[in-house]
Amino acid sequence: MLLSNNPHFVFDTFVHDALKHMFGHRESMCHYKPGINAFYTDFLLSQRHLADLTEKYQRAYIDRWSVHAQPSGTARRVSLYDDMFETAFEATVCVLFDKHLVTPAFTDAMRRFIAKDYMLMSGIPHYFLSDIIRTREFMVQALCTWRARYGETSAYASDLLEEREKGSRTRWHTDITLTDRDLAVDNFVILYASSVNTFLMMFWTLYHIYTTPHVLATARASVITYLNTHHDSIEEYLGQPVFSLQQLEDQTYLKACIQEALRLHTSGFIFRDVVQDFEYEVKGERYLIKRGERLVSNPAFLHFDPVLYPNPDTFDPDRYSEKKDRHNLSFGGGVHYCPGRKFARNEILTAVIHYLVKYDLEFQDAPIVGFGVGTGTETFADPATLVGVKRAL
Ligand code: HEM
Repeated sequence: MLLSNNPHFVFDTFVHDALKHMFGHRESMCHYKPGINAFYTDFLLSQRHLADLTEKYQRAYIDRWSVHAQPSGTARRVSLYDDMFETAFEATVCVLFDKHLVTPAFTDAMRRFIAKDYMLMSGIPHYFLSDIIRTREFMVQALCTWRARYGETSAYASDLLEEREKGSRTRWHTDITLTDRDLAVDNFVILYASSVNTFLMMFWTLYHIYTTPHVLATARASVITYLNTHHDSIEEYLGQPVFSLQQLEDQTYLKACIQEALRLHTSGFIFRDVVQDFEYEVKGERYLIKRGERLVSNPAFLHFDPVLYPNPDTFDPDRYSEKKDRHNLSFGGGVHYCPGRKFARNEILTAVIHYLVKYDLEFQDAPIVGFGVGTGTETFADPATLVGVKRAL
């Protein structure tokens, strides 16, 4: 019901609150413009843009990894969570902006922001949240400085933000004079949407693959066989690790692993606000739903339903070998179905392939699961989870 195009409820007020409380937009910039959703959908799902973003992401991922990697040949103990976060976040910054925005201070600020962002949404008076607000403002200022550096010329590495900004000036916010800060806050929102959920899902996919021996064996064999067939050698892939869209699409088993990780770890809620009273019937009971209420759906109710997913707590990519997954709400659905879903899967595949080809991981502790609240926010892992990493090739 929540995902249907129902005139009784809307997504707008939730977005309004998120923009205002979490990201710090000024009031006149908080109103949800439906055209923005169509813009993202057209852009991110078009083959041309998806291919461009995906190729750039793969190159940026390998580049950022080489910065963070320890000398090869040595086994090391790391926080996989931190490794995933730094590499994936900085790769996203490179793909959307450029590498000049990547600094240890900017990455660290994002790490601190996402650790407490739910508090901003929770209604706690901002008076008590000065730390996180300072962190947010530091990031917005860094974006303003980055923008000022380029003056009138656009420096976005991808057309996505350039087109978005053009839309703001000519279509969505023509009623107000946009300041540099307004545009920087908008940049921050999309940087957040495109990196936070994705790196968590990279973490969980790798965690489950590496702790389920038969899955690891099948996943690794599927990648190695593919590389042996499509590249002259694995060494050639290691020197030029860029998969085409079709080659990523062909990774059926790895995609099933990602689907399972999404099922198990998406606890993000789907929000809609009621704009007209209406009656709703469930199993013969009629409910009056009043204007002004917020409806919240937790996908976990479906994702852990044993009728839909037998042995729902088990990580089992083979459950999708016979039938498609029709109940997964990780990316929402209906009118607001996440427009970044295909790009997100390609980003996660990039990290998963990279690890499977190059690294053995040995988890020292089971990750402690934390909890995030927000649209598409998955269960958080404890960054202190340590993993032994050593080069497999
Ligand atoms: C694993 C990664 C991701 C997850 C789990 C995720 C999940 C979601 C969810 C649940 C929604 C709300 C859907 C609803 O309310 O029905 C959403 C919306 C959105 N997502 Fe994602 N997302 C991910 C990655 C991305 C990426 C990579 C981008 C951009 C490059 C992106 C851009 C957006 C945007 C712009 C919206 C708002 C759509 C609207 O206004 O209707 N997401 N996402």
